[in-house]
Amino acid sequence: MARLLITGAGGLLGANLALAAMAAGHRVIAVDFLHPIRHSEVESVQADLSHPGAALQVFAAHRPRWAVHCAAAVDVDACESDPETAFRLNRDMAGQVAMAARAVGARLVHISTDAVFDGERGGYAEEDEPRPVSVYGSSKLDGERVVLDECPEALVVRTNIFGWNARPKLSLSEWFLERLRRGERCTGFTDVSFSPIAVGDLSLCLLRLLPMPVFGRLHLAGGETISKYEFGLRIARAFHLSPEPIVPGSVDSMRPGARRARRLGLEVHKAEALLGAPMPALDPMLRRWRQEETDGTLDRLRGLVARPADTNQDQEGAR
Ligand SMILES: NC(=O)c1ccc[n+]([C@@H]2O[C@H](COP(=O)([O-])OP(=O)(O)OC[C@H]3O[C@@H](n4cnc5c(N)ncnc54)[C@H](OP(=O)(O)O)[C@@H]3O)[C@@H](O)[C@H]2O)c1
Repeated sequence: MARLLITGAGGLLGANLALAAMAAGHRVIAVDFLHPIRHSEVESVQADLSHPGAALQVFAAHRPRWAVHCAAAVDVDACESDPETAFRLNRDMAGQVAMAARAVGARLVHISTDAVFDGERGGYAEEDEPRPVSVYGSSKLDGERVVLDECPEALVVRTNIFGWNARPKLSLSEWFLERLRRGERCTGFTDVSFSPIAVGDLSLCLLRLLPMPVFGRLHLAGGETISKYEFGLRIARAFHLSPEPIVPGSVDSMRPGARRARRLGLEVHKAEALLGAPMPALDPMLRRWRQEETDGTLDRLRGLVARPADTNQDQEGAR
């Protein structure tokens, strides 16, 4: 099977993609910087891909046929307070990776975000004009542009994800679940909506799209757009937990930080036509996510990542 290079392979999406790719029989080249992957079936590479020339060195040494660039600065508030790092990682590093992919003739999929939109309208299609409201969104939008300038045959995937982290940090779904299990009061925003997709489902879509001649921007998100409050309630239902700890609230009540766009639902018609199937609905994805906790998936995921003393991130930080 093909050699697939994954950047950010210890991250939320990267680790789940690495597992799915191994299960599909691909040879995985896992690139990370501070938290490298350790697995007998994976070629593990430790590199600061933001360092000029580093990406080219990695791609030239490992010669992947395909590459999925997941590495990024994703902490929205940290990006806001340190724009230089945000643009260095989300724009410049993406450009370096695109240049390296082009140099060795690798097919590149670059992961972007719904946060490139301002969230005034929602239901965004690929052709809609992006207008980010945060440094994170602006730096990711610049990343899309440099990738497509460097590598016009790259596929740029805009998404919003949930699932299990390999490392001890919390995705939005894990944050809700932890609080529901502890019966700890938490706020679900009723005025922020999105189209979340489980990282396992997204990984399977990415693996199907890699060999297809599809270029440019593509929205690959869940088939339902819901508020973050409703998302929390659905998690409670999927895990047979009381929804009581989740209280409805407004994003305006949040502590100061980056501005959050409100309506970030993505149109997925183009993806559905390419994949020949509707994008998955939320409840079946949540049921699969619940199963992953006990069917060995979560253990395999955590087994991928070497554990230095790591810190927990809270929900706002994680997304
Ligand atoms: N999480 C979400 O809710 C969400 C929503 C929409 C879109 N996205 C997009 O999805 C993609 C994946 O996000 P994620 O949540 O999986 O991210 P994540 O868990 O924070 O992982 C990011 C990865 O990037 C790596 N990285 C950072 N700087 C690096 C560098 N200089 N050199 C090499 N690797 C570096 C990190 O590796 P080390 O830790 O080893 O340094 C880490 O594995 C990103 O493009 C993000 O913008 C995420």
